[in-house]
Amino acid sequence: QFTDQLWKLDFPKLKNDRLLRAASGKEVDKVPVWVMRQAGRYLPEFQEVRAKHDFFTVCRTPELACEVTLQPLRRYELDASIIFSDILVIPQALGMIVEMHPGLGPVFPQPLTSPSEIDQLQEEGAVARLLYVGKAITLTRHKIEGKVPLIGFTGAPFTLMGYMIEGGGSKTMSKTKEWLEKYPKDVHKLLSLLTRVIIDYLVMQAESGAQLLQVFESSADHLTREHFIEFSAPYLKDIRTGVQQKLKEKNLEDVPMTVFAKGGGHSLDIQAKLGYETLGLDWTVDPIEARKIVGENITLQGNLDPQDLYKTPEEIRKLTINMVQKFGKHRYIANLGHGITPQTPLEIHAMSTTEESFKDKLVNSL
Ligand code: CP3
Repeated sequence: QFTDQLWKLDFPKLKNDRLLRAASGKEVDKVPVWVMRQAGRYLPEFQEVRAKHDFFTVCRTPELACEVTLQPLRRYELDASIIFSDILVIPQALGMIVEMHPGLGPVFPQPLTSPSEIDQLQEEGAVARLLYVGKAITLTRHKIEGKVPLIGFTGAPFTLMGYMIEGGGSKTMSKTKEWLEKYPKDVHKLLSLLTRVIIDYLVMQAESGAQLLQVFESSADHLTREHFIEFSAPYLKDIRTGVQQKLKEKNLEDVPMTVFAKGGGHSLDIQAKLGYETLGLDWTVDPIEARKIVGENITLQGNLDPQDLYKTPEEIRKLTINMVQKFGKHRYIANLGHGITPQTPLEIHAMSTTEESFKDKLVNSL
C-alpha cells in the first residue's frame, strides 16, 4: 500500500501554510515557528519509545518514525514538523555500520581510514535502501492531516564525509582536515559521490510527500571561508540545482529548500547565492548583519541560542522578542540556532510556541 502512487498523491489538504509562505517570500499573518530537533530527547514520550526501540529501528520503522514526528505537535503549536530520521542513514545505505550510543552519540566501528576505501562504498542501490524514509514521510503526511507542512532533510556532503572519516562526532575533525590537505582529489571524489546520492535521496523524499527540504551542513564551523568555497559550497549548489532539475524531469513541482551551515557565518554571502529559498543561521550571527549581507530575496531562519532556553521565562521572552524584531516579519522563520538540548524544560518550549498572547506580542512588536 505504501508504494501505491495514489497513496502518495491523495494527501489531506494543508491547513497551515505559514512556513511555506515565509519560505517563498509571501506575506504571513504570524511569524512561523519550528524547532530544530523538535522530535527528541527532551520529550518524555520520545524517551518512552526509545526505551523500547533502538534509535535506528525507530528511523527504519515508518509507524515509529511517524509517531515520534507527531509527538511535539501534540504538545506545542508549531508551524512545521520534521520527519524523524538522522543524517547518518546515508553512510549506512552506502554500506557503513553506524551505531547510536546513548550519551555518546553516533559511532562508526569501521570509519574510512584511507581514500582507497571510497571505492568500497555501495553507491548503487543506496537510495533504494533508504526507501523506508520515504515510507515514513508518506505515512506521516497522511497522519498529520494537513495540520502543518512536513520537512524532509539530509546531511550535506562535507558533514557526512566528516562523520565517515572521524567515525563519529569530533571536536577537532583532525583526520578530516588531514584528508583535505593530503588527498584533495579523493575528497572531491567522495563529496561528488555523496552529492549524487543526496540529490536522488531528496527527490525521493519530495516524491514521498516532503514539502520542504533542509540540508544540514552542521560541520561548517570547522571550515575556513576558503575551505567552505572549495569543499562545501559547490556541492550545496549542485544539490539545489540537481533536485530542481530532477523534479522537473519527473513533472513534479519544485520544493522549497533550506541550507543550514552551522558556524557558517564566514560565508553568508556565498550561501545566499546557492539557489536555496531559506538560509538557516546559528546564534553567533547577528540578524541585522546577516540580512545586510544576503539581501532581500531569501528567507532567514533562526537563531536563538538553545542554551537560552535554560534562562527564566522573562529573559527568554525578552531575547525572543529582540530576535524577532531584528529579523522582522517578512521572509523569516523563527527557530533555534541549533538543536534543542535534552534537558530543556518542557514548559519553556510550550511558552514560546503555544502561548497565543506571546505569539501575538511578537507580531505586535514588529
Ligand atoms: O526533530 C528532528 O529534528 C528530526 C530528527 C533529527 C535527528 N537528527 C534525530 C536525532 C534530525 C534532523 C537530525 C539531524 C542530525 N543528526 C544532524 C544535523 C543537525 C545538527 O544537529 O547539526 C547531525 C549532525 C546528526 C548526527 C547525530 N545524530 C548526532 C551528532 C547525534 C548525537 C546528538 C546528541 O545530542 O547526542 C545524533 C543522535 C540523534 N539524532 C538523536 C535524535 C533525536 C538523539 C539520540 C537518541 O535518541 O538516542
